[in-house]
Amino acid sequence: MAKLSPDTIVGIDLGTTNSCAAVATGDGQVRLVPYKGGEFTIPSIFAIDDKGHELIGHEAKRQWQLNPRNTLYATKRLIGRSPKDDVVDTVQRSVQYRLHGGAHNDVELDCHGRTFQVQDVAAKLLAKIRDVASDHLGFKVRRAVVTVPAYFTDRQRQAVKEAGRLVELEVVRIINEPTAAALAYGAGKKLQERVLVYDLGGGTFDVSIIEIRDRVFEVKATGGDIFLGGLDFDDAIIRHVLDGFREKHGIDLSGDPVAMQRVRDLAERTKIDLSVRTEAPFSIPFITMTPQGQPLNLEARFSRELLEELTRGLVQRTLDLVEQVMADAGVEPKDIDEVMLVGGQTRMPLVQQTLTHYFKKPPSKAVHPDEAVAIGAALYGWSLQESSDLKLQLLDVIPMAIGLEAAGGAMHVVLPRNAPIPNAKALAATSSLDDQSELMLRIFQGDHAEVAANELLGEFTFRGVRPAPAGAVRLEVLFEVNVEGILTVSASDLDTGKQMKRTLRVTQS
Ligand SMILES: Nc1ncnc2c1ncn2[C@@H]1O[C@H](COP(=O)(O)OP(=O)(O)OP(=O)(O)O)[C@@H](O)[C@H]1O
Ligand SMILES: [Mg+2]
Repeated sequence: MAKLSPDTIVGIDLGTTNSCAAVATGDGQVRLVPYKGGEFTIPSIFAIDDKGHELIGHEAKRQWQLNPRNTLYATKRLIGRSPKDDVVDTVQRSVQYRLHGGAHNDVELDCHGRTFQVQDVAAKLLAKIRDVASDHLGFKVRRAVVTVPAYFTDRQRQAVKEAGRLVELEVVRIINEPTAAALAYGAGKKLQERVLVYDLGGGTFDVSIIEIRDRVFEVKATGGDIFLGGLDFDDAIIRHVLDGFREKHGIDLSGDPVAMQRVRDLAERTKIDLSVRTEAPFSIPFITMTPQGQPLNLEARFSRELLEELTRGLVQRTLDLVEQVMADAGVEPKDIDEVMLVGGQTRMPLVQQTLTHYFKKPPSKAVHPDEAVAIGAALYGWSLQESSDLKLQLLDVIPMAIGLEAAGGAMHVVLPRNAPIPNAKALAATSSLDDQSELMLRIFQGDHAEVAANELLGEFTFRGVRPAPAGAVRLEVLFEVNVEGILTVSASDLDTGKQMKRTLRVTQS
């Protein structure tokens, strides 16, 4: 067994609802990091209690019903997002803590009179996971491979790196969650297979088609929706329950944070129950009072059938994305050797039946849906270490096109969706004004034809353009996307070879 040391790189799956960490000890052996009580996952929740104490993980979840305003959960859905983004409103409607726009075109969260950036919360979670791992391993963990949804943009990836920096955890590599799951499945097994990873977690859905050729893991196409996950299944139940309560008692519970948190908690538990049973009660005593001061109970029953009716549209959306990725990769269901299920929400029978029907065979049970991503990250971390004898090659892709704003707000695509990474592409440009001194570019990521519907990654201003008549300065703009899916843009004067100075990336708009 290889020796663990402070240089060891741990693998961290920073999930929307649960996080998990693992470490490889060599020889294909991976240990999961246990939390108090023996569980291998920790709720991705941060809270501050009445006394001002910060709580993370299980401690935070234990009190979330009673302290809904100061319990921050599912914050991964907000990372690297601009406050104007529609999803921010949607999140605000479903959580009990308060959100508002921050100074950097980002979202800030209120908690117990304090304000946090989304990456501050990710940083707190990373620090907690690191500390538990350090206690378990007996040395201070300093380095990690951290996973993100394949469908994360450059901006979201940068925010996760920043979270690590905030707590002095070196994020040596960001890798995609489905790719990590494929590593957990195939590393060291000398496989020649084409697998489809279907990852439906708490907050996000990812699907990737990956060709495994022994140590090479090549992503052929990826797709997903970073706003489609178990939380949306919970919301479907919650809406149904609230509607029923309003009809029966004329009372809208949505304005009562404590009642709402109790409903959310039970909605999730009921959903999970209905994966193994066909019926479940849904009752919460003393949920509220009538205007006359009479206590009211919430009493309902749920069947698996009703849950399926309420969420069929969500499962269909995942299947539409599967079909799109299949088309992008140019393959048919029969060309997929194994379908891997990752993410807690894939335990829902309807999900498994839908996939079995589409692929005409049941999905593989070869990986653990909650642990595969952290295990894959740990294996990859191990392969990056000098002392390692496991050499893995990951060939991933960008999930959405990267491009710049052209005349009339059109998106000029520089790197298309599913372009392999690392990648680089040079664009030629000329000065358009006499004595133009700056070149300004607005860069976007997304698959829409109009930039307004895509995510603004940043505005870059290149200073020091040579004074000359319009059209006389020939510039080259170089787009480079590294193995992590993170973009750098540089520009140079083609005639003098001089590199332009670039101002800091600004994301304000
Ligand atoms: N038995 C079950 N049946 C249905 N859903 C389940 C079951 N067990 C867990 N879930 C759901 O799975 C989701 C959590 O999955 P997981 O822990 O994989 O997500 P995550 O990694 O935190 O999120 P993401 O990958 O989207 O960032 C929750 O919504 C949870 O309710
Ligand atoms: Mg996950």
